[in-house]
Amino acid sequence: MLLNLLWMEEEVKYKLSYANRPLVQQLIKFLESSPVSLHVPGHKSGALSGLPSDLRLALRYDLTELEGLDDLHEPEGVLKDAMERLTMFYGSDRSFFLVNGSTVGNLAMIYASCGMGDLIIVQRNAHKSIFHAIELTGATAILVSPPWDSESRTMGTVMASQIRKTVKEYPESKAVILTYPTYYGVTGVELEEIISFCHGHDIPVLVDEAHGAHFVVGEPFPQSALELGADVVVHSAHKTLPAMTMASFLHVKSKLVSSERVAHYLGMLQSSSPSYLLMASLDDARAYAESFNEEDKLKFIKQRNNFILNLKKIPHLFVLEMDDPLKLLIRANDYSGFDLQKLFNIEGLYSELADMHQVLFILPLLKVDIEFPFDEICNKIERAFSKLDSSMKVNVLKDALPLDKEISSLSFSFNELKNYQTSWIAYEDAIGEILASSIIPYPPGIPLLLGGEKLTKDHVNSLVALHKSGAKFQGAIRLNEKQILVVNRKVDE
Ligand SMILES: Cc1ncc(COP(=O)(O)O)c(C=O)c1O
Repeated sequence: MLLNLLWMEEEVKYKLSYANRPLVQQLIKFLESSPVSLHVPGHKSGALSGLPSDLRLALRYDLTELEGLDDLHEPEGVLKDAMERLTMFYGSDRSFFLVNGSTVGNLAMIYASCGMGDLIIVQRNAHKSIFHAIELTGATAILVSPPWDSESRTMGTVMASQIRKTVKEYPESKAVILTYPTYYGVTGVELEEIISFCHGHDIPVLVDEAHGAHFVVGEPFPQSALELGADVVVHSAHKTLPAMTMASFLHVKSKLVSSERVAHYLGMLQSSSPSYLLMASLDDARAYAESFNEEDKLKFIKQRNNFILNLKKIPHLFVLEMDDPLKLLIRANDYSGFDLQKLFNIEGLYSELADMHQVLFILPLLKVDIEFPFDEICNKIERAFSKLDSSMKVNVLKDALPLDKEISSLSFSFNELKNYQTSWIAYEDAIGEILASSIIPYPPGIPLLLGGEKLTKDHVNSLVALHKSGAKFQGAIRLNEKQILVVNRKVDE
């Protein structure tokens, strides 16, 4: 009797707390029927798994396209319902669940908008997935370099005047691809103007808003690109909403890009066995954002402001608030962000990333009933700062990058690069050569140099300085051997 009552109480609780999460509810209902697995996945509801017990338990939810659980690629039941709620909430024409991160969203939106030989205008500090998509489609990138944002010491967002100039020079461009906000939370103020200008020229604007899935909750967060009129917007729900890693959204709201074409490419690029764990976490992430109310906002702002006030009391600490209130930059003058990050790690505090200048924190989008240990974090930061010693001081470069030309294209397109053999050569011999593929500090995954670019002395100096200060790279560079991968051909100055 007691057990029954407890179960009923639990049931009421879960029905309340899982409300507005159709996929989550359907998975629970399915498990209540004590199903026996004679289907994939091979872990058989976790029974064969050697994973830690809490993970094994979660594997019960790792289901597949069984009766009542619908099919992501032909949704007509519970997944259709879940994605329709997503569509309604974000105010798009059609929104999709993604199970391979914003990476697959960026690929699909670019495949849906351009093809071999087309020109596509792209913000220079885009994520590598954007450049991969351009390479795969065979399009040619026209790069627009945003001005250096000296406050955040990062590359910011492009300006409307830059896009106007680029479109005038390349009117046949098939799309403009922007990153909003940047990884560091910079939004700029000209996105709406850029979008309306591009639409006036029938050019769609595709926005990688990987870091802005939460903008939909409204002020004090910046406006979302969808609200500002963008045609396609991609969100890493896992970055700032409570979704599992890789779980993301894509939204189409456009007269210029067909949502059918986007669906077509997602059908090709996404797994035919999408994870129900990821999709359930997307259903939950959308419901979480949808229920984020004024009371939550007020509490979040209060806690954040308090945290910042306390941080400011720590000697030598400088904190910079970004356009996105979830992002904070932490600095200690004359110390590199990489060294700061190491000190934080010793305290068991893990930040999103470090660069030469600073450490980036991503704060949680907290609701009133969720506690987060801000005071403890402050204490740990204070302890970390007390360990700064003057022998760690470095000569931090004010500008890490030699500024690129405002509008440029690659010396060799990604497509042309395929025709050349490549060699690893010493840094100093690489000056004047064409880089065979991109060099990407990771995190953040934004290429510093792109495959097809001609290397200059400034580029090489910048790579050396970044490496010295602790940066890690992916791609065409071997740090220990001090070598760079170039194509076997010298081009004239
Ligand atoms: C700006 C930006 N776009 C796209 C991506 C790729 O997102 P995902 O990891 O969800 O594939 C990232 C990842 O860090 C990113 O920072």
